[in-house]
Amino acid sequence: MSRLDSFIRRLEAQRACLNRAAELIEGLDGVVLELGLGNGRTYDHLRELFPDRDIYVCERQVAAHPDCIPPPDRLLLGDMFETLPAAQSRLGGEVALAHFDAGTGDAAANRKLAAGLRPLILPLLCPGGILATQQAMNGPDLIAMPLPQGVAEGRYHLYQRT
Ligand SMILES: C[S@@+](CC[C@H](N)C(=O)[O-])C[C@H]1O[C@@H](n2cnc3c(N)ncnc32)[C@H](O)[C@@H]1O
Repeated sequence: MSRLDSFIRRLEAQRACLNRAAELIEGLDGVVLELGLGNGRTYDHLRELFPDRDIYVCERQVAAHPDCIPPPDRLLLGDMFETLPAAQSRLGGEVALAHFDAGTGDAAANRKLAAGLRPLILPLLCPGGILATQQAMNGPDLIAMPLPQGVAEGRYHLYQRT
């Protein structure tokens, strides 16, 4: 598969999983947490999916499209290894959907980042909350959910907090 095909399929999988996550948290109270603003593409999609929910965003350094910059009181600015523990008092158990998309093209570094952040993300999720992530985050307290039709196994991941 060409790198272009692979890129397109990744984005299609990402969109399908976010759309599925929206269905899964229907009826579940809680905020949405975007982990990695980047240029704001998925944040913008989350805004469309969740017009009535507060959306918090973690980002080390904001460089998003000007239309896709979260309001200051919803932005957790800085390294997630510092901002997520600091957010526990405000957001602990309050997140209905977390979307983790903070990786780069370096697969080993991505695995290390996901493993390091997993224990910081988990306590933010409410029971039944969903974690959508490009990196696998298998382990205790997260149940892997079926992927939407057409999304290849391993291309994206959906988990539900027990
Ligand atoms: C792949 S981009 C996100 C793309 C975004 N979801 C989109 O659709 O435009 C990853 C982002 O995560 C941020 N990031 C990576 N590691 C981080 C960390 N430890 N703390 C805060 N932000 C981080 C990077 O600065 C980068 O902007």
